[in-house]
Amino acid sequence: MGVQVPEHVPAHLVFDFDIYLSPLLMKDPYRSVMANLPKREPRIFWTPRNGGHWVVSGALEALEMLRDTERFSSEAIFPGARKPSTLPNQSDPPAHTEYRAIIAPAFTPRAVKTMEDYLRKLSQEMIAAIQPAGRCEFISEIAREFPVSVFLAMADAPTEHRAQLLDWTEISVRSPDPAEREAANTRLGRYVLKIFEERRGHEGTDLLSTVLRGRFQGRPLNEDELLGLGLLLFLGGLDTVASTLSFIMLFLGGNPGYYQQLVDDPSLIPAAVEELVRTHSVASFSRGARHDMEYMGLQFKQGERIFFMSQVHGLDERKVDDPLRVDFRREISPHLGFGGGPHRCIGSHLARTEIRIFLEEWILRIPAFTIDLEGEAETRGGTVWSPVRVPLTWQAR
Ligand code: HEM
Repeated sequence: MGVQVPEHVPAHLVFDFDIYLSPLLMKDPYRSVMANLPKREPRIFWTPRNGGHWVVSGALEALEMLRDTERFSSEAIFPGARKPSTLPNQSDPPAHTEYRAIIAPAFTPRAVKTMEDYLRKLSQEMIAAIQPAGRCEFISEIAREFPVSVFLAMADAPTEHRAQLLDWTEISVRSPDPAEREAANTRLGRYVLKIFEERRGHEGTDLLSTVLRGRFQGRPLNEDELLGLGLLLFLGGLDTVASTLSFIMLFLGGNPGYYQQLVDDPSLIPAAVEELVRTHSVASFSRGARHDMEYMGLQFKQGERIFFMSQVHGLDERKVDDPLRVDFRREISPHLGFGGGPHRCIGSHLARTEIRIFLEEWILRIPAFTIDLEGEAETRGGTVWSPVRVPLTWQAR
């Protein structure tokens, strides 16, 4: 199965790994992937799956390549790509720098600080709604809903369409049927464009007004750009936050000693979030080789896809001692869970704050909980790794 290995890729660089369906991704993916990946340097291999592409599994290699936008492009330059994209995450500097500057003010530490009260209230309400039952399926009841509410609040958009948005989002990110995904994206796009239209002329301080006021090369943004930015902002923080929170709860529920550390000393929570993002990074992303080149002793051909498996970059033992061990008291927890280089996640501070505040509220209301699963939790791979189900139980008051 898979495509034929091209001539410029020597046999010792080939490792058969399906980023979506590898059996290594179906249970405890961090441990399984790390135990099986080739350890040869540079930590880059080529897989014949999914059309054939490179995978960068080492943190040192990844960081160097992500900074090198001359060689490794974020544009959709792969064979079969539809058209040049107006999305900031699919453009290179200098266009990228301008697009990013439009949304950056909404994500500074100062801007995120103003959201803290809202995030706390939202966490309190969501936890209070499930607490009396003594059980929940964390992904469907909390993790997926939480970031959608945050987006609607940032966009100052009505919450009445929340359930509908969640449905479309689920289809958009998870349906195996490309036509269904396309239809859901179109609906989400229409929804975002409608808010832009309604808001035009009476912009406020919300996220979508910030986008509406944006200028690219001195002109207002066109419809494609508004749509691209609106959807990126909506989708960028949904699955990623939901999966990270779900992995964190799976870990804490299955490791009561670690959870107790947070209950006993909540000031450990920010460091715990960082360490748990390092050991449970969820997202990966691609670049394309801009031209034929030799790099780190490997031959890349123009347009080849290079996949950054940042899920395991925090587990690189060349950067972290005993990397699979979770330790909330590590001095630093280096990882690339939020990417690296100029595209580094613009929402990382918001994401950390969402998770921190949620945990601060959870420990107050649910001081002990366990995972209600027989055997090890199932997980799934792809561009955002996630547990499949996280059923939790606790003593209802
Ligand atoms: C735990 C949660 C999150 C994770 C793991 C995560 C991960 C990432 C990663 C790895 C990238 C880099 C992609 C690349 O280099 O191609 C990225 C970019 C981005 N993220 Fe996040 N993200 C999270 C939360 C958020 C949130 C809450 C938002 C805000 C709505 C957001 C918005 C974005 C945007 C707009 C970009 C594109 C930045 C650019 O291209 O300059 N993310 N994210």
